[in-house]
Amino acid sequence: AATQNQRLTIAVQKSGRLSEQSIKLLKACGIKFNLHEARLLAHSQNQPIDLLRVRDDDIPGLVMDGVVDLGFVGENVLEETRLERVATGINADYKALRPLEFGQCRLSIAVPKEDSYQCLTDLNGKRIATTYPYLLQNYLKQQGIQASTAVLTGSVEVAPRAGLADAICDLVSTGATLEANGLQEKDVIFTSQAQLIQRPEALSPAKQALVDQLLPRLDGVQLAKE
Ligand code: PRP
Ligand code: ZN
Ligand code: MG
Repeated sequence: AATQNQRLTIAVQKSGRLSEQSIKLLKACGIKFNLHEARLLAHSQNQPIDLLRVRDDDIPGLVMDGVVDLGFVGENVLEETRLERVATGINADYKALRPLEFGQCRLSIAVPKEDSYQCLTDLNGKRIATTYPYLLQNYLKQQGIQASTAVLTGSVEVAPRAGLADAICDLVSTGATLEANGLQEKDVIFTSQAQLIQRPEALSPAKQALVDQLLPRLDGVQLAKE
């Protein structure tokens, strides 16, 4: 496993809303990388650090299982993974290192524009399509709403039109996806940004020293942006 080698392994999203800024931040911290599109693993040229480029949804689990040392994650995916693991009895521990100032989005319930939706109770007995069933059911339970879920890993926004669900619960950033699909945002159930996390078990002294060097640089870069 990556954790057995002496290089600090950092997981980043291969392509998506967090990729570019995660890598930009590491570069601003003085870590040099040569990224090849096709390669899963990228070695730093000036530090004993490797980048593992994977799907965002896989990163929290890789960190919690200690397969990688650090990970750049969206809090939405992090919290969904944590809830799922707690529910299924799998270790869900991690160390939160820093909130990051990018990747802002919200997880919201949306319904077709022509829907007569007035408030959350209108969702009783309805079906909601989502990629985040644990976050959604957690919220519905808190609000005392009973609705079923249809779990889709993509194309959630087409579910109402396709007759698969009455509403959706999905990430909203600019709102363009909802608009393009005739949907209206109703309730924000979770707000999210990027976060840097570390595996729960202690790092080797050499790796810990690298992290201790990285964090103040990262704070400096974030402060300079304000
Ligand atoms: C999310 C969501 C929508 C889109 C909304 O997907 O599923 O498709 O972003 O953004 P907008 O409000 O700016 O239109 P995304 O591809 O970011 O997440 P994923 O890579 O985890 O599927
Ligand atoms: Zn994803
Ligand atoms: Mg998407």
